[in-house]
Amino acid sequence: MLEDTSFAIHPGGQQKLTSSGYKPVGPLQSYQLAGNVFRGKTDRGELAIVFYRDDIVRIEMNPFGEAQLLHSPAIAAEANQVLYRPEDTGETITLSSQKLSVSIQKQPLLITVMDQNGRILVQETKKGMAYKETKEVICYKNMKEDEHFYGFGEKTGFLDKRGEKMVMWNSDVYAPHNPETDSLYESIPFFTTLSKAGAHGIFFDNTFKTTFDLRSEEDSYSFASEGGAINYYVFAGPTLKQVLEQYTHLTGKSPIPPKWALGYHQSRYSYETEQEVRELVKMFKEKNIPLDVVHLDIHYMDGYRVFTFDPNRFPNPKQLIQDLKAEGIHVVPIVDPGVKEDPEYHIYQQGVREDLFCKYIEGSIYFGEVWPGNSAFPDFTSEKARKWWGDNHQFYSDLGIEGIWNDMNEPAVFNETKTMDLKVMHENDGDPKTHRELHNVYGLLMGKATYEGLKTKLNGKRPFLLTRAGYSGVQRYAAVWTGDNRSFWEHLQMSLPMVMNLGMSGIPFAGPDVGGFAYDSNGELLTRWTQVGALTPFFRNHSAIGFLRQEPWSFGKKYEEVIRKYIQLRYQWLPQLYTLFKEAHDTGVPIMRPLVLEYPEDENTYNLYDQFMIGDNVVVAPILKPSDEYRVVYLPKGDWYDYWTGEKLAGGTRHLIQVPLDTLPIYVLAGTAIAHGPVRMSTEEKETERTVHIYYQAESEYTFKMYEDDGSTFDYENGSFIDYSFTIEQDETSVNISAQKQGNYQPDWERFELKFHGLPENIRVSINGEVLQARKHGLYQINL
Ligand code: NOJ
Repeated sequence: MLEDTSFAIHPGGQQKLTSSGYKPVGPLQSYQLAGNVFRGKTDRGELAIVFYRDDIVRIEMNPFGEAQLLHSPAIAAEANQVLYRPEDTGETITLSSQKLSVSIQKQPLLITVMDQNGRILVQETKKGMAYKETKEVICYKNMKEDEHFYGFGEKTGFLDKRGEKMVMWNSDVYAPHNPETDSLYESIPFFTTLSKAGAHGIFFDNTFKTTFDLRSEEDSYSFASEGGAINYYVFAGPTLKQVLEQYTHLTGKSPIPPKWALGYHQSRYSYETEQEVRELVKMFKEKNIPLDVVHLDIHYMDGYRVFTFDPNRFPNPKQLIQDLKAEGIHVVPIVDPGVKEDPEYHIYQQGVREDLFCKYIEGSIYFGEVWPGNSAFPDFTSEKARKWWGDNHQFYSDLGIEGIWNDMNEPAVFNETKTMDLKVMHENDGDPKTHRELHNVYGLLMGKATYEGLKTKLNGKRPFLLTRAGYSGVQRYAAVWTGDNRSFWEHLQMSLPMVMNLGMSGIPFAGPDVGGFAYDSNGELLTRWTQVGALTPFFRNHSAIGFLRQEPWSFGKKYEEVIRKYIQLRYQWLPQLYTLFKEAHDTGVPIMRPLVLEYPEDENTYNLYDQFMIGDNVVVAPILKPSDEYRVVYLPKGDWYDYWTGEKLAGGTRHLIQVPLDTLPIYVLAGTAIAHGPVRMSTEEKETERTVHIYYQAESEYTFKMYEDDGSTFDYENGSFIDYSFTIEQDETSVNISAQKQGNYQPDWERFELKFHGLPENIRVSINGEVLQARKHGLYQINL
């Protein structure tokens, strides 16, 4: 195509720069306070301001009519009754809660949000809020010189998004994900900024195609939409972690996943027959490689009809699933939204009869081409359709299935636009809206239908859902994988900042296809990628049809050995990861963290994208290049233990480290602790021992947390859990631990021990005042 050659930059083709064509919304004419809501009229439209909490304020400006204060499906919280003081000086009105104050300059209308100390969080530039007659809206904000940007969901590129221009439009991108690739499968129009003055966040809750421009101007940024209102929330911070708590208060926290979903997942497009699946599982057992989940891609279905199994390829799915379960393995089948147009197919029949598919305003069903051929798409914006879809999951739960993989739910359609006709009119629970407006929430609502449906079918067990598409709030239902990456080293590199920014966007349970989906992987790449995957929240090896197979043993013994070691390592780390999943559930703070989240005062971390942290005390610095045995690792302030050798390294500096193929560099902060369990072949195997590793550091104090529950039901919501808290104080002569536990869950472990690293001789170790006797040097059995 000519567009793919230099013709694309033909001088005759360059567009003339035109003025933006935006008009200001005009000065504030009048206002009133109605209960919780401030409402003000401008020349054009209406401004409304509502405090959701003292630290969360919503600002909506609708240049085309009344501010409607509607909720997108992202929102999971109601506005609290927040007391705020309005003050009118004649020129400016200020609304102040305990934590935030919004000042509204009347002429020209300019909004500034400050914290209770007068620190400016968000300040409009002179261009303020503006609109076009063609219904686009925009909002301009000042950008401080030292401001760094995190979040924005699933984007390519580096960690700090300052200098980027990003479009939110859920897109199926099979073409290689490049630095210039913009919209991917998820749209999360939320970000946090960090500057010396602290952190705050903004969530632009507008479901149309939106654009965030942090590039075009040096000292300002903008967010714009093709339609709808300028509707955004400001989160007060003042720390990055507080912003995440505030954002996930509004859009919901992630549930604690079933433990099996934290194990190793093996996938392939596709394991095509029952026989192939059984052989695969046998290989894992023979090779002593742990495995928790096998994914079934589209070939399991009868002609790609969802809610069916192909009777020839999978003659007895119930037996297969039962047999695998007996081996501790769960099966997760793919379910796409496209329902084959086939008048003899019950799902299609139900959808047509019950009027559950997406339609044009004129009444005809929208059809698009996907794997099954011409297909109709459930209208997930309708409660009735969601319920129907959810209920249909009985088909899977009856077979013993507890997890579902939602794919193609942008929705992807094989046509020029890659998606549904934008003119489709969604039912939207009685408030019909076009696909142009609701495109970005289609995947989120499919996730809601699936998760909630499956949950009602599982009789108290936790469902697992994996999704490709989503919008803010998707964390309430699903884990997210980053779609069709490739077996390129560059994609391994890119996956780190991508998953970290997903975490900074309220989505803690995320990961890429380990080994790369498209293109041929190789032993070294798969090995290095599996090392990273072992500590990535979602850990699945997946590869595409037509390319080399990439199961752990695919590239010979040398690589298989190392891959086994790291899949096993995953199981040892599960207690630590599980506690962090619980923390994410409580606070919205992710498991896999950019260093900046823990060290926001350290400039070296602001764009550090090739290392990450697990929790608040572990730094991981993988090799991300071929044929490379060396890299630089940056360790923040403090002393750090090499996880493998026990060697102590100084923080606040960079180290050149040697990293042979069998090593993933991991560093644990001295004076802290981590929890480990035994290697198991799957999470269904009983966990007989638990070890807390303590890394000695004189004159230190750390509170170590460890959370445990049954890992499979929602009983923890009724108090069936155990939460340990160890305050570890260490000095030159002693280590004193004050241990507390809350909850009454009885864990499986028969042995519970402390293992010290770097502990000098003759140090007295006590727990709750009782001196412990070492079994061996540095190893203590405890009974709590
Ligand atoms: C696209 C998905 O991204 C990929 O993971 C899957 O294997 C194919 N669809 C086939 O279902």
